[in-house]
Amino acid sequence: MTVASSAPREAFASRAGFILAAAGSAVGLGNMWRFPYQASEGGGAAFVLVYIGLTLVLGIPLMLAEFGIGRRGQLAPVGSLRKLAGPAWVPLGYLFVAVGLLILSYYSVIAGWTLRYGLEAVFLGFPADSAGHFAAVASGGDAVAFHVAFMALTVTIVIGGVKGGIERASLLLMPLLFLMVVGLALWAATLPGAGQGYLVYLMPEIDELLNPSVWRAAASQAFFSLSLGMGGMLTFASYLRRDQNLPESATVVAFTDFGVAFVAGLLVFPVIYSFALQDAVSASTVGALFIAVPSAFEAMGPLGRIIGLFFFVVLAVGALTSAISLLEVVTASVIDEFGLSRRRAALLTGAVITGLGVFPAFDIDALGLLDKIAGEFLLLAGGLALALLAGWRLRAAVSDELLAGASPRWQRQVPRILATLRFLVPPIVVAVLFFSLRETTAAVVAYFGR
Ligand code: PHE
Repeated sequence: MTVASSAPREAFASRAGFILAAAGSAVGLGNMWRFPYQASEGGGAAFVLVYIGLTLVLGIPLMLAEFGIGRRGQLAPVGSLRKLAGPAWVPLGYLFVAVGLLILSYYSVIAGWTLRYGLEAVFLGFPADSAGHFAAVASGGDAVAFHVAFMALTVTIVIGGVKGGIERASLLLMPLLFLMVVGLALWAATLPGAGQGYLVYLMPEIDELLNPSVWRAAASQAFFSLSLGMGGMLTFASYLRRDQNLPESATVVAFTDFGVAFVAGLLVFPVIYSFALQDAVSASTVGALFIAVPSAFEAMGPLGRIIGLFFFVVLAVGALTSAISLLEVVTASVIDEFGLSRRRAALLTGAVITGLGVFPAFDIDALGLLDKIAGEFLLLAGGLALALLAGWRLRAAVSDELLAGASPRWQRQVPRILATLRFLVPPIVVAVLFFSLRETTAAVVAYFGR
């Protein structure tokens, strides 16, 4: 049942609005911590190089597969796939809905922590025992409460619609986020010992270039960070008219995402080395963000509260604009498929996700497991399906769509993009999926065997 034709489809009001909304989806918790951490683990500048290469070869072409299918279909994933590729592809659309539900359920719990830490910076200051504090608040009733609060914010924006909610929030929040990240990185450069931090972050270990696990980490980081493989970019593009230059937009979004991730590393590493927090960091990735960095703010006294407030506001803002896109995939599918009003659809899907999130909010291992399954494996699987669909079955339609609205300079890239989707993306993603499947299975076994 498709009722979308009964009312004109919502649309972005400006080209910049679409680009900032897509960049808002991409820039999030994945940039702020996951990227710097993986870079330092994966050979520093060597990882950064692999990551840039994979962004060009996998990221931009896949984003364009989503953009092309979405704008062509003018419906959320389920409807667009049915319309363009036939009923056999509808289950893929529902897989995307499920992945959106799953990722948002734990993403919102982490985002809830950032809200909490931001409020604490204002009202209480950072605690002296930051590891103990994190252990006490990361799981349990408090975590549920902040998760619910964050979901309420996300639902409110999505109820506002494409133009009045998503676009307006992105136009306001993204420039703010860019300013704050750059400001914080400049401040971090003044810390004693900053140089040591940069060195550890970016020290090139060339032999890591040949390490397959570095490639797997970089590929899955690219998928997660660029929000690919779950129909989020597809859904946003379904609100576009044909005058948007899609290849240019995808390139701008991908480089913005990379830029923020890179600058986040220039912020986090000087802090860690200036305050000698290496040990706290090596314990866990989550720990670094919510244990090591806050303990630096605590050590700095009153100034630390101000800097810390900015830091957690940046995290929360990045998380919010990403969460919007996760919820929008689910909400838009319910609107398109079942004809619910936007308000009802957002409240209903938001409530389901809030309920699901209670599990990861009570169990931090479940949170990690969900991230492996949905945030890594399922995104890769979804991306593979999208590459095959756009590169083979819908090649003519996608090519036509990417040409429309593109300047001649970008039009010349379109055949190259489609060839990449056909011949390069699938084998690379299959290889990465293989390694990811092994790791995910091991994580599942470990979780249930504990
Ligand atoms: N890209 C977001 C981040 O880096 C997370 C995300 C993944 C958002 C998948 C939407 C879809 O935090």
